[in-house]
Amino acid sequence: MAATKLILALLLFLLVCSSNIASSKNSRRPKPCRRLVLYFHDIIYNGKNAKNATSAIVGSPAWGNKTNLAIPNRFGDVVIFDDPITLDSNLRSTPIGRAQGLYLYDKKEILTAWFGFSFVFNSTQLKGTINFAGADDIMKTTRDLSVVGGTGDFFMTRGIATLMTDAYEDDRYFRLRVDVQLYECF
Ligand SMILES: *[C@@H]1O[C@H](CO)[C@@H](O)[C@H](O)[C@H]1NC(C)=O
Ligand SMILES: *[C@@H]1O[C@H](CO)[C@@H](O)[C@H](O)[C@H]1NC(C)=O
Ligand SMILES: *[C@@H]1O[C@H](CO)[C@@H](O)[C@H](O)[C@H]1NC(C)=O
Repeated sequence: MAATKLILALLLFLLVCSSNIASSKNSRRPKPCRRLVLYFHDIIYNGKNAKNATSAIVGSPAWGNKTNLAIPNRFGDVVIFDDPITLDSNLRSTPIGRAQGLYLYDKKEILTAWFGFSFVFNSTQLKGTINFAGADDIMKTTRDLSVVGGTGDFFMTRGIATLMTDAYEDDRYFRLRVDVQLYECF
């Protein structure tokens, strides 16, 4: 009997400890000091849309080419982009900046990418850059990238950007919603 009680007490103690660890892990996270929700629009060059394209395949595996995304899962394709950033999801809204950089597809078995890019702002309201890097597990509804730094209005910032695919058409257009939460603001 005493042994059973001891075991129960021990289990309870472990439970309390583990829940403390879990809650202190979250409570140690600061609140964001700034938040921006923006959209960017990517139109991939497909051999026919040179006028409208905002991105281009610049590298492809030996079995692919630069007008069609590689099979399977675009593995090995490297795409450079200069995409308009808008405040809402409308491609035709006045851009408030450009998303510039690259993404590369890095897994044969499923669709995943690695992103390295900047939001470049040059308007009366916003000036400067926010710089992003990280893995994009495209099959997930939301994906977190690191905000690794910034300049101008975003001097020395850091944070997390949550990506959501807001629209996707025929391998030729996609729109990402980017929820930027900054934890260091100066
Ligand atoms: C380019 O965009 C315009 C306006 O969205 C559209 O009407 C036109 O069909 C597009 N052209 C090409 C070649 O995709
Ligand atoms: C590129 O590859 C696709 C097949 O993935 C093929 O249909 C297309 O004709 C190729 N284009 C060029 C320019 O080689
Ligand atoms: C930023 O805007 C200013 C004023 O409109 C312009 O002179 C400058 O060339 C722009 N810089 C870039 C990188 O677009």
